[in-house]
Amino acid sequence: MSAATYPNYSPGLEGVIGGISTISEIISETSSLVYRGYDVHDLASKGCFEETAHLLIYGHLPNQAELDALKKTLANEREVPEQVYTAMKQMPKNAHPMDLTKAGFVAYAPFDPDYAKPATDDAANVAKAIRILAKASTIVGNGHRIRQGLEPLKPKAEHTIAQNFLYLMSGQEPDAKTAHVLDSSLTLYAEHGYNASTFACRVTVSTLSDLFSGVASGIGTLRGPLHGGANEEAMRMLQEIGAPDKAEAWIHDALTNKKKIMGFGHREYKKRDPRAIYMTKVAKELSAEKGQTNWSEIADILEHVMETEKNIYPNVDFPAAYAYYVLGIPIDLYTPIFVIARVSGWSTHMIEQLRNNRLIRPNCIYEGPTSATWVPISER
Ligand code: CMC
Repeated sequence: MSAATYPNYSPGLEGVIGGISTISEIISETSSLVYRGYDVHDLASKGCFEETAHLLIYGHLPNQAELDALKKTLANEREVPEQVYTAMKQMPKNAHPMDLTKAGFVAYAPFDPDYAKPATDDAANVAKAIRILAKASTIVGNGHRIRQGLEPLKPKAEHTIAQNFLYLMSGQEPDAKTAHVLDSSLTLYAEHGYNASTFACRVTVSTLSDLFSGVASGIGTLRGPLHGGANEEAMRMLQEIGAPDKAEAWIHDALTNKKKIMGFGHREYKKRDPRAIYMTKVAKELSAEKGQTNWSEIADILEHVMETEKNIYPNVDFPAAYAYYVLGIPIDLYTPIFVIARVSGWSTHMIEQLRNNRLIRPNCIYEGPTSATWVPISER
């Protein structure tokens, strides 16, 4: 039977209102995104990711003293117990960094000082949210070292979250430009309403499970190429195309063959994704500055054809992909970077869910067989 048979059924929950939130608003008609009332372009261009995380988790932009205090706490909470690294080292070297990241959080959870607190302990949840935020860049950065057979590095207190990831990933002090580009992208990736991974987090804690279990659900859900995994896939697609003079033929062929173009389209934005508008500007400036315009030239051609032929626009994953590539970040770390940012939104949503919880448990329509008669196993 088709979905049209059931008036209340919306495949993929498209258009269904799943809750009321005060965290962020997507305004498709004007291609805008606001976190607690603030335009994401302002947050990305004028502030730092830590300010955005404070805005999300505590509900207001920090003053200088509050920002300093948050940065100090993050620096103090950045390290993870040695046992977490030991657990991560047990994974095969070809494990995807998203699985290493998930393993890192799963291994860390029982070490958290508020591990045994009930799911509804709001103060403990806020403290957990800050520790999750602090540890994410360490788990991803040192996870990259571990899979190369290198020992984890000790995070530096003076680093921002973006710098901490870059330092651990490369073993070198990051330059200001690289840290700035990454920092802006973290703000753009931080929060996005009831997207699939955030919804998974909310479903998880709606059973009165804990924030760490929610983060594990979030990471698993983010990984797929229709969601966060698209940034990796978009870069692999650009690599497959290889050169601007191949792009036009490639995209026409892909569309003829009904291929999904990774990094394009969005359930919520039917025009432009505001995050993509900002990130494209950053990615193009960076590409020009570094003299690596190959990817941005291919990107321009794909964008033009997608817009004129399909009326579909790039989402944030498309420009983020080639910006990260120009920064020299390994491709399979792109989605884990999304985790470093999105833990701020996930935790905020889980706290909001638990402050006014109701078990999330929708219905489904049964279309299976009816009136089956049980037959003993020896007769089947
Ligand atoms: N390439 C080609 N055609 C597309 C694309 C695309 N990237 N996106 C949508 N379409 C077409 C689709 O084929 C369909 O056409 P038709 O009606 O002729 O069958 C129509 O547009 C509607 O697409 P849909 O997949 O039903 O729409 P949706 O709301 O379920 O999809 C989406 C949203 C993000 C899953 C989809 O656009 C997509 O698969 N994009 C590629 C993956 C991607 O970039 N994901 C990242 C999303 S943004 C970052 C994040 O938050 O994770």
